[in-house]
Amino acid sequence: MLSARDVTVGFGSKIVLDKLNLDIYRGEILGFVGASGAGKSVLMRTVLRLLPRQSGQIKILGQDFDELNEQQRNSLDMRLGVLFQQGALFSSLTVKENIQVPMREYLDLPTSLMDELAHLKIRLVGLAADAADKYPSELSGGMIKRAALARALALDPELVFLDEPTSGLDPIGAAEFDELIAKLRDTLGLTVYMVTHDLDSLFSVCDRIAVLGKKRVMVEGTVEDMLAYDDPWVQAYFKGKRARSIVPQDSHTAAHDRPAQDSRGK
Ligand SMILES: Nc1ncnc2c1ncn2[C@@H]1O[C@H](COP(=O)(O)OP(=O)(O)OP(=O)(O)O)[C@@H](O)[C@H]1O
Ligand SMILES: [Mg+2]
Repeated sequence: MLSARDVTVGFGSKIVLDKLNLDIYRGEILGFVGASGAGKSVLMRTVLRLLPRQSGQIKILGQDFDELNEQQRNSLDMRLGVLFQQGALFSSLTVKENIQVPMREYLDLPTSLMDELAHLKIRLVGLAADAADKYPSELSGGMIKRAALARALALDPELVFLDEPTSGLDPIGAAEFDELIAKLRDTLGLTVYMVTHDLDSLFSVCDRIAVLGKKRVMVEGTVEDMLAYDDPWVQAYFKGKRARSIVPQDSHTAAHDRPAQDSRGK
């Protein structure tokens, strides 16, 4: 679904990503982690062509944007959904109108059909029907995330990019959001690229994890691969205190070492 080869991105003389390689496979949920400021959002924006790259090749759904004409680029864009880190709903538009933004941009549909589609997406992400006419300022953080997801799904994309979709949610809200994403993957056949700092998301819904460090993807694979990877940051991240209750422990220390509450609450 996505292949990045030797991608280099920088701002002025500051290189953020240096010859980065990454693959995403159909139907998987890939969790993308890395220290704050490592360049996770920069990579996402580069893949979406919102930021220029200095070199390297990126193919999405088998196609290289650089080789496409405008019409082909548009049809490829329509197959991608995005949830930005800051939610990025338009504050002057209602939820329904926000969801309809991509429809207006890419399709030419009658209003009644767009309304029907928006309501469908609102239900799909588990929002109440009356959220449709609310403005972002009238929503809770969790509802904003769901509304932004509904907008990302507006055009029935095949590949969705989610930048920290559960940050700022309470533990139960975050777990519900994870379940929703897994359900959408299963029912809609989505492929998901999810930037996250949420260890629970990584362990519960992600099929594979990629770690950004030293300006490239340092390691990618399963949780077990992460635990076995010899790098101080990766070890601290996956085996540190916050990871204790989720990562399988040595069997004899596990039970009493493990806090009773959900690890998200810590
Ligand atoms: N438009 C820009 N112009 C200049 N520098 C930028 C720009 N966007 C990002 N950067 C820099 O690139 C680096 C990576 O930023 P990025 O937002 O990708 O981090 P991140 O890994 O997403 O962090 P976080 O986990 O905090 O969201 C940072 O040093 C940031 O200051
Ligand atoms: Mg970021």
